[in-house]
Amino acid sequence: MKFFLDTASLKDISWAAQAGLIDGITTNPSLLSKQAGDLDPRDVLKEICSLVDGPVSAEVVAVDADGMVKEGTELAKIAENIVVKIPMLEDGMIAVRRLAAAGIRTNVTLCFSSVQCLIAAKAGASYVSPFIGRLDDVGQEGMDVIREARVIFDNYNIETEILAASIRHPRHVVEAAMIGADVATLPPEVLKKLLLHPLTDRGLDQFLSDWSKLVARAKAAV
Ligand code: E4P
Repeated sequence: MKFFLDTASLKDISWAAQAGLIDGITTNPSLLSKQAGDLDPRDVLKEICSLVDGPVSAEVVAVDADGMVKEGTELAKIAENIVVKIPMLEDGMIAVRRLAAAGIRTNVTLCFSSVQCLIAAKAGASYVSPFIGRLDDVGQEGMDVIREARVIFDNYNIETEILAASIRHPRHVVEAAMIGADVATLPPEVLKKLLLHPLTDRGLDQFLSDWSKLVARAKAAV
């Protein structure tokens, strides 16, 4: 399973990239607005693209097809690894088709049902992003969308990648991986939680404490 980091934080991206843990990045207007401050968001995206080799999703804010294509084309000029994020809208599907025809990869975002994923794939999206956590937040079973989309895409050999988004905790990652989502995009806090287990900490404390006893004995014997 590929891991993307769901952030525009250069510090977090830099750590995860150095550890070889991430295959790409997803951003959205909220995440970029938080990171960019007074900076031009295009400069932030450029910097992110230089830190990772894999795809970096950058979202359009236009909501009409011409506007989305224009913005998407500009975003794609920032770096070769930019993937243009397009919202799940009627005009969005036209934009996806036109950008794909121009050789620009897209990630259809704000998907909340498996049939939306199918529609986005038919339009020519490279990735579809079902938002698991936001569905859970309103009392639905977010993971069902990933489960259904996986079956549908496999039934028809659809190559569009299923990108599990709006991940809230490690269990989401485990379930998405068991179902066979191609990618999970993780907030940095969730990625860091994947490394943790209380028995790891307890085991390490025990090993270090036993070792220091050995060192103390060796010193006393001199
Ligand atoms: C995906 O690409 C989105 O940026 C993201 O996963 C949204 O997650 P949220 O529901 O935590 O904002």
